[in-house]
Amino acid sequence: MSIIKQNYSLRNYNTFGITAKTKYFTSFTSEEELIKLLENDICKLEKMLILGGGSNILLSEDFDGITLLNDVKGINIIKENSKEVIIEVGAGEIWHDFVLWSVKKGFSGIENLALIPGSVGASPMQNIGAYGVEVKDFITQVYYIDIAKKKKKELNNNECGFEYRNSIFKGRLKGKGIVTKVIFKLYKTPINNTDYGDIKEELKKLKKNASPINITEAVINIRNRKLPDPAILGNCGSFFKNPIIKNSKFKKLKKEFPNVIGYKISNTKTKVSAGWLIDNAGLKGYREKNVGIHNKQALVLVNHGNAKGKDILKLAEKIELIIKKKYDISLEKEVNII
Ligand code: EPU
Repeated sequence: MSIIKQNYSLRNYNTFGITAKTKYFTSFTSEEELIKLLENDICKLEKMLILGGGSNILLSEDFDGITLLNDVKGINIIKENSKEVIIEVGAGEIWHDFVLWSVKKGFSGIENLALIPGSVGASPMQNIGAYGVEVKDFITQVYYIDIAKKKKKELNNNECGFEYRNSIFKGRLKGKGIVTKVIFKLYKTPINNTDYGDIKEELKKLKKNASPINITEAVINIRNRKLPDPAILGNCGSFFKNPIIKNSKFKKLKKEFPNVIGYKISNTKTKVSAGWLIDNAGLKGYREKNVGIHNKQALVLVNHGNAKGKDILKLAEKIELIIKKKYDISLEKEVNII
């Protein structure tokens, strides 16, 4: 049975390391336990916040409601043949642990997504991605509990509405469904996606061939060099999405800023590097008291210690204004503001 605590600190449950409190706090370890919880009066009356790894939220103030920690665990192979394997993973598993488990077993697919903070349950919600790979290509189904109906539901890959850092769980099902299990399809033949960024170079440095386990090692090294460890410097990874703009607008931008970085993603649209835009505006390493912009990756906002959520939000808004003024581009937050 879940015990409901009152006036509970969320300090250890968000990777920004913000000290904020929640009026009520509890956790669940199974779908059955969650359904029971949803029948509790507190859940019926109060606002609800579902927490996974807390790596994509900014607590801008105390939460006046009930926080539910998703602690559904388990990694189980449910089907396999000589080429593929189907794995059911509890939403509360730590994402990076699942990546390590998969490459140690010799499975391929998610090796480029090593060291992304957060839980397995959050992976479909924002369709996590890095180094040329998006998780949507390895998810076959997502199970969730419908909050209003208190029933278990299932979506196939298509129904999840996956897009760049987006899905139905951030859209139509926002606040309506709680992801409990994710089904992945991984491969027994290595995919070896080494085209993006410095992966090839890093493998050379390591004197290792491309293989799922070696790519994971390379990605871990690259990320450790650029991205701050939340245990040391509170952060939520990329704070903003890379903006998608019209090719014609990108062409104009390129005329004014010849070094601007962008990737054509369709015949009409280009994805621009927000990190470059912020960096080129002279903001990398910028600091305002306890909050700042990381000095190695300008897309990452950091808590230098005891920052308030409000302060981070203020800095984010300042950055948005500067970017709008300088490039006429509106940045969109990737992080959920609570
Ligand atoms: N860049 C700069 N200055 C900076 C940051 C980046 O010039 O301060 C340039 C880099 O030199 C590079 C380009 O911008 O040429 C892209 O940078 P990077 O490869 O670091 O990736 P990103 O586009 O900034 C995205 C994801 C990251 C993911 C990396 C690697 C988003 C919002 N972010 O960042 O994901 O790790 O690619 O694939 O799409 C996250 O979502 O939390 C996250 C960390």
